[in-house]
Amino acid sequence: MLSMTGMLENKISFSNNFISESVDITSTPLLDAMLNYKNSPMTGFHIPGHNRGLGMHPKFVQLVGNDVIKIDTTDEFDNLGTLHPESGAIQEAQELARIAYDTKKTFFVTGGSTIANLALAFALSAPYDEVLISRNCHRSVLTGLIISGAKVNWIIPKKLDKWSIFGNIEADDIEEKLKRNRNIKLVWVTNPTYEGVVSDIEKISQICKKYKASLIVDEAHGCLWNFNDELPKSALRLGADAVVHSLHKTGGAMTQASMLHLGKDSGFDEVRVSHALKLLHTTSPSLLLLASLDAARANLSSSSGQNMLQNAIDNAKYFRSCAKSIDKLQVLSNEDIALDLTKLFIKFENLSGKQLEYILEHDYSIEVESASDEGILLLSNLGNTKEEFDYLLKCLSDISKKEFKHFKTDDKIMPLIDPEIVMNLREAYFAPKEYINKYDCVGRISSEVIALCPPGISILLPGELIKEEHLPYLFSYDKIEVIKE
Ligand SMILES: Cc1ncc(COP(=O)(O)O)c(C=O)c1O
Repeated sequence: MLSMTGMLENKISFSNNFISESVDITSTPLLDAMLNYKNSPMTGFHIPGHNRGLGMHPKFVQLVGNDVIKIDTTDEFDNLGTLHPESGAIQEAQELARIAYDTKKTFFVTGGSTIANLALAFALSAPYDEVLISRNCHRSVLTGLIISGAKVNWIIPKKLDKWSIFGNIEADDIEEKLKRNRNIKLVWVTNPTYEGVVSDIEKISQICKKYKASLIVDEAHGCLWNFNDELPKSALRLGADAVVHSLHKTGGAMTQASMLHLGKDSGFDEVRVSHALKLLHTTSPSLLLLASLDAARANLSSSSGQNMLQNAIDNAKYFRSCAKSIDKLQVLSNEDIALDLTKLFIKFENLSGKQLEYILEHDYSIEVESASDEGILLLSNLGNTKEEFDYLLKCLSDISKKEFKHFKTDDKIMPLIDPEIVMNLREAYFAPKEYINKYDCVGRISSEVIALCPPGISILLPGELIKEEHLPYLFSYDKIEVIKE
């Protein structure tokens, strides 16, 4: 367990014994620089041209507030530092994040984990390099591989048919693939899944080492794991070479703020990754987003932030326990499969997930994370209160007592189909193509990335054969882009 006395106020219970006592891991260099920037305005002749809101539509200023407008700036001022190359307060903030996550290098990213994944693919794979990827990867991983031209080998996660979702990735399946194809030098898995299902990353990491393959873990939905021992262990502690975290999803940062980490013993070259980030990243990173990453790390490292996290975990446990007494309600649990318990995937008998989402939103003013035909996903977040969970439970109990006309939509989100690859991803993407009616496309080769958001998992990729089973997943499409015959 952690011994973080030193600069931290209270005893902290996450096992983070790598933080040196001389570092105040709760300090906020970038936030402080931003406060200073806000409080010491200068006469400005620079971008952004709205000049602290004066050149904006007043309604917009009213909507977001003057304080936000005043700090809407990019990394051009000495006292704030720059992201590429890293300098000043931004560099200090990145260094504190590196310490908090115990990595070789941590990069701040303002284009979400999408840009982090693109950069990893761009930096670490070359045309025709063989990579092994879990099929439930986010579409940004694929986009990265279209850019790099690497050859994709799929690992299909287990499927939880009862819940119509992807389950874990079997380490033995990865070993089998690596044994059979010794050219695979990069393995890329998503952990946890959108619904919180966890794979055995420790074993996967050992297998990768055995076959001399590097391991990237897209942990976009697991950025809290380093900060509480009741949550699964982060891949950063289990030997991954690179890990991606969407701090904006659950870590308390602003939307689009993410981190890309290189593991402590990572074999990846940080300069290569930094170059790729620089090429793909905006040249005007929002300081507001960067400062929110500084704030999120400081918060999660502080005793108050850890109390918030503990509350989120306790609320999830409370919900899970109370939900058992609600008629017809089922909650995906650790008894079904290893899980991050803060992700609550629930379903009612005789009620589709879409239907439940609609009822909660329209009758009870509750917004959920996502809904599929099968169930809905709710998150127990840092910012949720026990009272909110009491309200949710009351509403679910109410719903369980009502009779609803069942209207299954057949809108399927999770593509539980084994892909049949007939052409290289990049070649198919750039091949001559045509648009044809959805119902004429069976038997043709897809030439576009089709993925519904959320969760952004691909249904069809360039180079894959379109089959009858794909049609239910294409409900929002009239025409499909295919390779010209
Ligand atoms: C597993 C996974 N990776 C990456 C991303 C992309 O993250 P972002 O929205 O931060 O760009 C998502 C988005 O939902 C995701 O679910």
